[in-house]
Amino acid sequence: MAPQPKNCRIKCVSKIMDESYNRLIQSDSKSLLKKYLSQDVYNALKEEQTPTYGSTLMDCIQSGLMNLDSGVGIYAPDPEAYTVFSPIFDAIIEDYHLGFSPNHTHPPLDWGDLTAFQNLDPENRYIISTRVRCGRSIEGYPFNPCMTEVHYKEIEQKMTDVFRGLSSELPGTYRPLTKMMRCEQERLIEDHYLFKEGDRFLKAAKACQFWPVGRGIFMNKDKTFLTWVNEEDHLRMISMEPGGDLGNVYRRMILGVTAIQEQVNFARSDRFGFLTFCPTNLGTTIRASVHIKLPKLSSDKDKMKSVAEEHHLQVRGTRGEHTESEEGIYDISNKRRLGLTEFEALKEMQDGILKLITIENSL
Ligand code: ARG
Repeated sequence: MAPQPKNCRIKCVSKIMDESYNRLIQSDSKSLLKKYLSQDVYNALKEEQTPTYGSTLMDCIQSGLMNLDSGVGIYAPDPEAYTVFSPIFDAIIEDYHLGFSPNHTHPPLDWGDLTAFQNLDPENRYIISTRVRCGRSIEGYPFNPCMTEVHYKEIEQKMTDVFRGLSSELPGTYRPLTKMMRCEQERLIEDHYLFKEGDRFLKAAKACQFWPVGRGIFMNKDKTFLTWVNEEDHLRMISMEPGGDLGNVYRRMILGVTAIQEQVNFARSDRFGFLTFCPTNLGTTIRASVHIKLPKLSSDKDKMKSVAEEHHLQVRGTRGEHTESEEGIYDISNKRRLGLTEFEALKEMQDGILKLITIENSL
């Protein structure tokens, strides 16, 4: 997509952006966008544009402006946005990733020693299932808001070929959304395999254009290794299974990612590691989570949240972010993914979950 002439595009959106920005600062929004987008930062960035795709500040922040209940409120429309709009991205990144400041650099990929990971709940008392995912962007493509219909189709075609070449425990089927029956799609969402449709945060960020073109899910035969194509990121590679065997789930994700990366070049920055659409996912991009029931600890939600926070964990509802807990089941995962290795992110999650279980047992 050719960038539009700078002044024309900026002028059209600037009035709307000013109004929405004023609404944000007057609101009681708890978003990191509100916390860090001071008038000075806003003024300094409001006329900037990324060189290749012409993305503006509005393209970065429109989701947070429209959704005042955002936790974060910003996305990078293309990889250059992280640099051009660094005053706002850097501040949000440092807060979210617990201290990754502008003079930090993300370490090189290190999956680490797998024997350090165990079954977190060998007696099956608390953990219902375990999931580890990572996100990847494909080199040479922008992120969702700048993608054309052709980009979506190209990525999907490329991935269909890649999936066909998988071996050992990975082979399976790619299912494009365009050819999926509604009831089947709903079923896969219900069973926590597939992404939900119509996420208002992504929609407001213009991340759902041409939907459902180019979107789909690959599942291996056992439905323990999945890849989401062109949802929030170009790729989300997921390993999951019932129970608490974190070591096995992590091992399988590494197997899948390694096989895929032999055939696809992933976008990586020297400073931020693997690049993703949302700054919360930069770096390792790893979110290792359990679906867990902690009846005693969760009877005091504030306590559960504060213990989790102490261990750098994030508590979400049963269906992930922006959802409530159902039947006392929580989705708990590592919060930071940037500034530490893959191994350290997993270890942080393992240590935290073991601690939560110890506390539950002591109550
Ligand atoms: N933009 C949303 C918010 O600020 C989601 C942020 C993190 N989640 C994500 N899927 N990227 O609440």
